Amino acid sequence: MSEFKAPPLDVSSILHGGIHHPTLRSWQSNGRNLTKSMFIYPIFISDDPDAEEVISSLPGQKRWGLNKLEGFLGPLVKKGLKGVILFGVPMKMEKDARGSAADDPSTPVIQALHLLSKLFPQLMLTVDVCLCEYTSHGHCGILSSLPNPGHSNQPTIEMEPSAQRIAEVAVAYAKAGAHCVAPSDMMDGRIRAIKLGLMHAGLANRCALMSYSAKFASGLYGPFRDAAGSAPSFGNRKCYQLPPNGRSLARRAIQRDAREGADILMVKPSLPYLDIISDCAQYAPDHPTACYQVSGEYAMVVAGAEKGIYGLKEMAFETTESMVRAGASIILSYFTPQFLDWLDEEQ
Ligand code: PBG
Ligand code: ZN
Repeated sequence: MSEFKAPPLDVSSILHGGIHHPTLRSWQSNGRNLTKSMFIYPIFISDDPDAEEVISSLPGQKRWGLNKLEGFLGPLVKKGLKGVILFGVPMKMEKDARGSAADDPSTPVIQALHLLSKLFPQLMLTVDVCLCEYTSHGHCGILSSLPNPGHSNQPTIEMEPSAQRIAEVAVAYAKAGAHCVAPSDMMDGRIRAIKLGLMHAGLANRCALMSYSAKFASGLYGPFRDAAGSAPSFGNRKCYQLPPNGRSLARRAIQRDAREGADILMVKPSLPYLDIISDCAQYAPDHPTACYQVSGEYAMVVAGAEKGIYGLKEMAFETTESMVRAGASIILSYFTPQFLDWLDEEQ
């Protein structure tokens, strides 16, 4: 040892005193604690009423038929599940250029809304609104015949007709009993179009509008597209989803959607975009901030745990708490069923 002797520590240097007990540690959260009511569970609804199909790229998740929903969701509602978001998976329905199957009365999410409102009247029902699961081309809007100016193998979106069509679908879901509609298409002007559509239908005070405001063109949607059969048949979604480098553009999208009538703003994916979650909470402080831990993020956490890199529960908590710390108060998560158990356990 050297001769050097450190001077006595200053009183402000001692941090361990505040974190030696689990309750003390829980008080370090600035009041931002994970609770069951923050979670929305994404559910895939098949048009095969008896389906209970494993989705290999999305471990632990299944495509569910209507006849299986009571048995699947009943126990989760008992454990404190407060909200779900429904995604339609039309396996047998015909797909066309305008996504007619999206709001056909027989479409799986409309059927599921009728059923779930009866089975679980307290459960909050959100429906994802998009065309990609229902269009023959797999894109999220109506396509133009004009070439894309940036690249010949990319789509060009027809702006007004896309927003109108998406609003029509959202209103159909609201009429079928959705408590909240969540457009994920990223078309310009769709929040305004949906809000006006809900007002016109007399439903604006009975259906919330959660905008996927800052949704990035991400490599993390792969397992979802497998699950929902919604991969584009050509090109990609870069001319309507945000570029990952676009922090200022995301702020503009967030502020625009707040002005256009969104009730809740969402950032997606979550873990690589914690700065955007923080911006959303800061730039739209009068709207709740939601974030979506998307399929690829979920699959990454599960895969790492299976490789023995970390414990599953430990990393599910750490990633989810980072989102809450950044500013989210609503979390769309495939881990929701586990959190309903974990949040009852000693931390
Ligand atoms: C549909 C939609 C997608 C997701 C939610 N809604 C996929 C996409 O934009 O291609 C992704 C959700 C997930 O990955 O869990 N537009
Ligand atoms: Zn889409």
